[in-house]
Amino acid sequence: MKHIILIGFMGSGKSTIGKELAKTMGRTFLDTDDRIEEQQQMKISTIFEKYGEVYFRDLETKVLKDLLEEQEPLVIAVGGGLPMRFENRAYLKQLGKVVYLTAEVDTLVQRLEGDTTRPILQGGDLRKKIVGLMEARGSIYEEATDCKVHTDQKSCAQIVEEIIKDVQ
Ligand code: S3P
Repeated sequence: MKHIILIGFMGSGKSTIGKELAKTMGRTFLDTDDRIEEQQQMKISTIFEKYGEVYFRDLETKVLKDLLEEQEPLVIAVGGGLPMRFENRAYLKQLGKVVYLTAEVDTLVQRLEGDTTRPILQGGDLRKKIVGLMEARGSIYEEATDCKVHTDQKSCAQIVEEIIKDVQ
């Protein structure tokens, strides 16, 4: 078991928690969205706009596949839609311990309100979109994960502590 990989819905705190977890464990933090933006020299919203979602999903799979060669144990946060591909779930299992961060719909709405960086949430009713996507994705997150950590009403330090206990 090598890397620790955080999965979960947009706004569940993968990047914030991931950075803190990496700091606490003395590991390097890697975010698949950031890596894609660096490699493409483009924001994710621009990639979606110019080339479409399937192109972006292929980039996610490529980043994950490349990580199989990584020797240093990392803390990795992946985009919320990444575990939806069957192939990606197989890579996640090979990469290490998968932790699913959950949050209530109200919390997600609060965190994602006014966000313009996530193309799949733009336009229409935010809460309805979140509920619909959660319905479609929830069981797949469950299938992909080794352990689940609820984040509502917990501090970052508490969540980090819980994850460290769970992955041991
Ligand atoms: C997406 C989540 C985003 C990003 C892209 C698509 C999704 O990442 O990969 O906008 O489909 O859930 P975060 O979960 O880090 O926001």
